[in-house]
Amino acid sequence: MGRRMRFSAFHIVTLALAAVLGICIWSLWLAVNSDRDNIHPLLNQLIPAGHCACHTAAIFECDSCLRCPAQLPFHDTVSSSSAPPTKNFFDPLEYSYNETQCTTLFPGLFEDPIRAQSFWTARHGIKRTDIDNIKMVDGMARVAIYQGRLYVLRALAKGEDHRRKILGILASIHRALVSAPQLAAILNTEIIFSVEDKLEDVAGLDHPLWVLARKATEESVWLMPDFGFWSWGHIDTQIGPYDEVVKHVEEHELPWEEKENKLVWRGKLSFAPKLRRALLEIARNYAWGDVKEVEWKNKANYLSMDNHCDYRFIAHVEGRSYSASLKYRQACRSVVVIHKLQYIQHHHYLLVSSGPQQNFVQVERDWTDLPHKIQELLDNPIKARTIADNNVDVFRERYLTPAADVCYWRALLQGWTTASPQITETMSDPTNVSNKGIRYESFLLLDPSNMMRFRP
Ligand SMILES: *[C@@H]1O[C@H](CO)[C@@H](O)[C@H](O)[C@H]1NC(C)=O
Ligand SMILES: *[C@@H]1O[C@H](CO)[C@@H](O)[C@H](O)[C@H]1NC(C)=O
Repeated sequence: MGRRMRFSAFHIVTLALAAVLGICIWSLWLAVNSDRDNIHPLLNQLIPAGHCACHTAAIFECDSCLRCPAQLPFHDTVSSSSAPPTKNFFDPLEYSYNETQCTTLFPGLFEDPIRAQSFWTARHGIKRTDIDNIKMVDGMARVAIYQGRLYVLRALAKGEDHRRKILGILASIHRALVSAPQLAAILNTEIIFSVEDKLEDVAGLDHPLWVLARKATEESVWLMPDFGFWSWGHIDTQIGPYDEVVKHVEEHELPWEEKENKLVWRGKLSFAPKLRRALLEIARNYAWGDVKEVEWKNKANYLSMDNHCDYRFIAHVEGRSYSASLKYRQACRSVVVIHKLQYIQHHHYLLVSSGPQQNFVQVERDWTDLPHKIQELLDNPIKARTIADNNVDVFRERYLTPAADVCYWRALLQGWTTASPQITETMSDPTNVSNKGIRYESFLLLDPSNMMRFRP
């Protein structure tokens, strides 16, 4: 399978983890191969939740999470059913599924909040001083949730990009609150989040910060879904809410038979030159390669997001950090080809790189095995088609739906408040303290220039 292990000073620990991962995958392989749809419940019990080895690997690998026992950070109850629900089972646009429904519908989605909760619980919980110690810099906002209402206490945006991302995150939290089936169950709390690409740009390693992506070693942070699920658009690109993008793709996508039998990639090389140039260099030698740099000056080689779906194979490359474009590539009924990732986003736990559930193709970070992997897909179109179908079933139609998004946000909040009881205990009514904060609803009405450096 070509798994690579990075050996640290703690060989033994690493070996033990490798063994656990090996047994986990081996068992799942056996189960999956012997009976495709029906995994023995014993196997699910063998794999402890939140131990998918992705937490410790230098390079994020987490093939098994789609089949980890579904367990929300809410309670200690394991979902009785781990079989993926059928498509008709749920409404992808529903915002108010309850805990039980979320757990049943989206097994494996809540891995990162579970991981972060365990991390902080082992450290005796998050204290108010832990968030007070986070130095507020551009790209961060501090918010409070009090009696089910969202308050903005502080927001720092360097420019329009930050401001829009912060609004997208606030709006997502607000939506998860107003659609909660039991608002009273959501505890009062305070949170600081960052919309910057990298943790190291804004804070050190030990802070309980909410972020968009983390490296495996950045264990203290909590992963949020990115702002694009709410909506994204920049000065001259209007992308819209993710579910609108998906709807548009579904209505306009070419049938598989008519898609180009090629690997497409368009982007800016300078964001991650080594990674991106390697792809360009390798792909240019093959007839299946359609990899080009976009020159933004004259829009040369530009390809709309929709048109990416015209290809059977779509390459994805990390940028400076994670790349929010992955979810748009996953919106196509195509095979997404990804190098081994270093940055983890909330939904990466669901990526499966082999077996009958395979939903993407993984290659080395230097792309050296790309020609071999693409040739395999060209030689075996049925396999390619299956991977593309799995990609759609898992991401576009289930784990990246609005229903999954709000379930995730509420699970994140629940995991967070469970790990930070002292913050809840020391909350005061934000409306009864002068200069404390303003309601999200009022924040929205501020002039953009007043949002940028917001401090009541
Ligand atoms: C969630 O909703 C389902 C269906 O309405 C219901 O059967 C279940 O008891 C609810 N669970 C909780 C925890 O409220
Ligand atoms: C408001 O705060 C003051 C002191 O800061 C306190 O005495 C009072 O009880 C608070 N009122 C409410 C309704 O919490």
